[in-house]
Amino acid sequence: MCGIIGVVSGQQVHQKLLDGLLSLEYRGYDSVGMCTIDKNSLILKKGIGKVQEVHDKHDFSRNGGKIGLAHCRWGTHGGITDENAHPHVNEDKTIALVHNGIIENYAELKEFLAQKGHVFSSETDSEVIVHLIEEFYKKVPLEEATRLALHRLEGSYALGILSLREPGKLVAVRNESPLIIGVGKGEHFLASDVPAVLKHTNKVIYLEDKEIAVLEKGSCTIIDYDGKAKEKQAHTIDWGVEAAEKAGYGHFMLKEIHEQPQAIAETIQERLHGNDVVFEDEINLSADEMRGVKRIILLGCGTSWHACLAGEFMLEELAKIPTEVEYASEFRYRNPLIGEHTLAIAISQSGETADTVAALKEAKEKGAKTLAICNVKGSSITRIADGTIYTRAGPEIGVASTKAFTTQLAVLYLLTIALAKERKALTGKQIGSMVQGIRRIPLQLQSVLAEDGEIRNCAALYHKKTNSLYLGRGVNFPIALEGALKLKEVSYIHAEGYPAAEMKHGPIALIDKEMPVVIIAPQDVYTYRKILGNIEEVKARGGIIIAIATEGDREIPKKADHAIFIPKTLYTLSSILAAIPLQLLAYHTALMLGRDVDKPRNLAKSVTVE
Ligand code: F6R
Repeated sequence: MCGIIGVVSGQQVHQKLLDGLLSLEYRGYDSVGMCTIDKNSLILKKGIGKVQEVHDKHDFSRNGGKIGLAHCRWGTHGGITDENAHPHVNEDKTIALVHNGIIENYAELKEFLAQKGHVFSSETDSEVIVHLIEEFYKKVPLEEATRLALHRLEGSYALGILSLREPGKLVAVRNESPLIIGVGKGEHFLASDVPAVLKHTNKVIYLEDKEIAVLEKGSCTIIDYDGKAKEKQAHTIDWGVEAAEKAGYGHFMLKEIHEQPQAIAETIQERLHGNDVVFEDEINLSADEMRGVKRIILLGCGTSWHACLAGEFMLEELAKIPTEVEYASEFRYRNPLIGEHTLAIAISQSGETADTVAALKEAKEKGAKTLAICNVKGSSITRIADGTIYTRAGPEIGVASTKAFTTQLAVLYLLTIALAKERKALTGKQIGSMVQGIRRIPLQLQSVLAEDGEIRNCAALYHKKTNSLYLGRGVNFPIALEGALKLKEVSYIHAEGYPAAEMKHGPIALIDKEMPVVIIAPQDVYTYRKILGNIEEVKARGGIIIAIATEGDREIPKKADHAIFIPKTLYTLSSILAAIPLQLLAYHTALMLGRDVDKPRNLAKSVTVE
């Protein structure tokens, strides 16, 4: 939700700001803006549209100056207009500010400031902050005026601020919205996330909530809201800039779909020891605590919530632990009962989803042990949880989540084995065959990716249909939900996921010859025969059947209009393999409809506001 970037340097900064904007664009693409200080005046350019469109119109490369801020917006307060684009400035254009987050008490602050004579030029909550800082910016430095203003703000915010009065200084603030500091050679950056600065430095400082950083080209000092200095270490990022580039693929989504064999291999390899699963210190639960867990609550949003549903299946089926799945957004606003020996696991690619952060905090405050499954090092969720298991998917830039999802499934599978082992819910032999099963997944994923031709063919035939149904059972019901979500978000086609047997209780009324029905039908002992029955039901009503079937299955090709094959694997692991054709189907469909696959309308990668 909005991306912010700032640079203070010994050299011109417009290109660094532009590069940062391009890499942050997945966070919001309603409007874009940049301001720099050049020859003692503030150069401000902004407007609605994507980064390239606004750059084409305003030519950011003509912004001179060695200090600047830039912003890409995902609107919350105020329409998508040029005026509401950031940066926001005070009336005499001496202070500029970029903001990611929501100011909850902005209406009363606006009234207070208007009474003092401030005139506002936008409808945003963000603009009040710049006027509020101006109120305190009398005889004190910018960071002190900011600090005093912050005490009046309620809500979430990551801020970048600059002033003509102190033209070599950027002030950065973090409170419940992500912000990092990049430490370069003779320059400093502030940014919403790491890829925005990677071209220039791999040294970053993760700001904590209620910290203020004062950046000059050669120095970075950090204070808290009481003005007390804080010592913080810079971390070295171990992935390079190429990890956050397209590497010859047309879109990040396609690149990230194809990275899944590698991403899963990296996620599992250091945790597999022979026929065993070992989590070193990541989980932060003793063997006794693992044995003592009485209940697990899985928390997440969107795609990560679908991973939670698959996790519930694995943990109950194999580790025999009662497990519940909660939408993080709902969990935080009820009064959930957390009994003794409850383990709350938050799943999040970004680690910054506002609802998931809040739900995890709630669970922790109520006495649960907490664990995060997360892809971004040092993100908020990892700092709240007692332990973190990182998915090693690398940066996920495409707004639609792909490799983060399947690596989350892989981690849940490993965690299930580790808990089952400690609790003696599975025999050594069963664990051995589960470990062997997941070892084969990266290679098997390669052969699923090779099904691309038939998937593209389906997209070519059906991309003009206006509805789709996705059906699955057991561990593949969440995969059906995920397939439908992928199609919806990148192609804007209405799609619904259902447990296959539920179809008879209503959705079957929708089926006619215009309705593609994607059915996940691996050959397993649990549900295969039942799914064959569901296929017949769809067929009898004229629906178009695209089946995800196991290699070698002879029944399904006779019944379905299209069969896309996945290799034979353990039932639980079929979820990982089955996810891939559904991602590709959504990708090709969206492409054929001319959609902006990496930046679907109305969405943003990281939902850091409620
Ligand atoms: C869908 C998608 C979203 C995210 C959701 C949670 O493709 O990406 O539904 O899964 O916003 O995000 P994280 O996992 O970062 O908490």
